[in-house]
Amino acid sequence: MAVDRYGVMGYPVSHSRSPVIHRLFALQTNQKLQYELLQVTPEKLETAVRQFQRTGGKGLNITVPHKSEVTRLVDHLSERASTAGAVNTLSFRDGEIYGDNTDGYGLLRDLEFNHGLKLEGTSILVLGAGGATRGIIGPLLDKKPASLLIANRTLGKAQALTDHFSRSGPVAACRFNGLPAGEHYDLIINATSAGLHGDSPPYPGTAVSDDTICYDLSYGLKATPFSIWAREQGAERSVMGWGMLVEQAAESFRVWRGVRPDTAAVLKRMNVSA
Ligand code: ATR
Repeated sequence: MAVDRYGVMGYPVSHSRSPVIHRLFALQTNQKLQYELLQVTPEKLETAVRQFQRTGGKGLNITVPHKSEVTRLVDHLSERASTAGAVNTLSFRDGEIYGDNTDGYGLLRDLEFNHGLKLEGTSILVLGAGGATRGIIGPLLDKKPASLLIANRTLGKAQALTDHFSRSGPVAACRFNGLPAGEHYDLIINATSAGLHGDSPPYPGTAVSDDTICYDLSYGLKATPFSIWAREQGAERSVMGWGMLVEQAAESFRVWRGVRPDTAAVLKRMNVSA
């Protein structure tokens, strides 16, 4: 019998750790599958997805820059993907395409389970107002924080997100240099793509106290600029998003295969500092 095929589609994608993670999940759970890296330019996205489907592929992870665009190709969109306005997990069943989004789940699982945080009643500051922010605001508000402030270089983008989510919880917007004076936050999440471009924007240092947990959605073998900045500001903890990466992958694996892998064992195997 042919082995079930999965893969990750992005551009560029050569740096992706998803093949390693999914192979470790497969070994651990005794599932037979193959998982490929698929580098696909934005112009070729639809053709590549349809070809994967036509040739019997079972599921795809979708990564930068296709997460929003791919929603157009989906026949059934999950509620969490619809809230996020983005899809990171496609399943192909009975000739139809199912789109889901496991990013927000992955972040929450890493924060709450791996790092032991309770978000109810906390103050949260999210830096950035792009696609990554849109994907995490709904799941964060579901946890009933006391406040969630979105700070962004471009105020209008933060305001648009605030308008979109205002019915779901206490969310507000400002510029990096417009934070309320003297306010510290329990949790600061960097969801800008500045680090990816090698930039270090003027993050608001006044927001950090020695009780603040700083979380960078980006991750690297070396410390990211934001995680270095957070340590320099004296944050209680400065965490990179390796845990979120593995947790969102585990949730995709569960969606596809119906079994939940043990993420702690895989994080340990990857030998990266969370
Ligand atoms: P997406 O495709 O997910 O929307 P993006 O356009 O790269 O991603 O933007 C992601 C976020 O990172 C945005 O909030 C962006 O700020 P702007 O809305 O002002 O563009 C932020 N960002 C990217 N580079 C940045 C930088 N050098 N300084 C500050 N913010 C930056």
